[in-house]
Amino acid sequence: MEPQPLSHYLDCCATTPLAPEVAERMASVQAQAWANPSSLHGFGLAAAEQMERSRHGVAALLGCRDERVVFTSGGTESIHLALLGCAPALETQTPAGHQPRLVISAVEHPATRAAAAALKQRGWQVAEVPVDGVGVVDLQALERLLAPPTRLVSLIWGQSEVGTIQPLRQIGALCRAAGVFLHVDAVQVVGHQPVAMADLPVDLLSLAAHKLQGPRGIGALLVRAGLDLQPCLAGGGQEGGLRAGTEPVALIAGFETALKLACDRLTDHGGVDPSGRLRNRLFEALLQLPGVERSGPDPLASDHPGRLPHHLSLLVRSRFGSWLNGRQLVQALWREGWACSSGSACSSSGSAASSVLLAMGHAPEPAAAGLRISLGPWHEPELLELLPAALDRARATL
Ligand SMILES: Cc1ncc(COP(=O)(O)O)c(C=O)c1O
Repeated sequence: MEPQPLSHYLDCCATTPLAPEVAERMASVQAQAWANPSSLHGFGLAAAEQMERSRHGVAALLGCRDERVVFTSGGTESIHLALLGCAPALETQTPAGHQPRLVISAVEHPATRAAAAALKQRGWQVAEVPVDGVGVVDLQALERLLAPPTRLVSLIWGQSEVGTIQPLRQIGALCRAAGVFLHVDAVQVVGHQPVAMADLPVDLLSLAAHKLQGPRGIGALLVRAGLDLQPCLAGGGQEGGLRAGTEPVALIAGFETALKLACDRLTDHGGVDPSGRLRNRLFEALLQLPGVERSGPDPLASDHPGRLPHHLSLLVRSRFGSWLNGRQLVQALWREGWACSSGSACSSSGSAASSVLLAMGHAPEPAAAGLRISLGPWHEPELLELLPAALDRARATL
């Protein structure tokens, strides 16, 4: 296979390539702070010191005040630690004979659905809040579900497949008023809008480095001070007893550098991801093609609920009007040299119709015709010419 230029990689919601500064930082930290940070000798102390500096850096960049930063292997583990880790304490607060309830949305990432299924096995009830046609959670339905025995809500802040950003402040205020804990899956949001954990009405927040040009294999859970959390992985007592296993000091440093680069980019552009402008123009260009529709919120509408700024999602028909299969379209686009996705990378092996698009009210055929395009900071306006033509050629081959 011919190597393709990075300009043709349009799958940044799946993962991103390392920023060169991140690779450099990791190499330097690996060379200097390679030891086990739990070791009591000087090598170990140097590694521990390096790791704690990175932890402080990550905490500051995410606006933590008293919140703890617990490093995990990525988003999936962070979500499991959040949901399964706070369950024991919440169970003790539930009156005997009652099952505590977890509320999630109908458009969660499979990692949250799996953690919810594990809670169900522990005896929890799990309820799903419906979403509207662009993927926004029904706030009235959520409010009704916040009554006892609900103890915990877990929501995806920025939806990976259709880009919807949930109204987190309103959701958090409802949870606070009901005395219900809120965990937020911020894996797609961090790096694309400023996040200040201490100012958010959120108790637990999950993120992963590889979505923002950091390394794979490292993520974090931010934990509100005082929250009683139990580990999912026990052993050597690392991460304050919350996540056993020798910490990857170089990955943690790379995570901090990637986060710093993303936050600096936001600061340089007044707190707004500059990819949003190119994304909006690309939406306009792609929607000119007959038979191509947007899924998720319209970022060009003045009253849109919020959309990840680097994210486009489409439903695509053939030139003759029949719905295409998104997975086949992704393969056809790759034959044209473009890397996109048919939805969330993690669910791309599943059945053809997307559960997210079905939950938004799409019929099974269009729900199998999804295409996701997600941009990185390196993308240029040349896409506006090249991509619509490539998409049109690709669909003509199906
Ligand atoms: C919204 C969301 N949550 C969680 C995850 C899982 O993160 P990870 O792949 O780092 O385990 C992903 C990854 O695609 C995601 O997009």
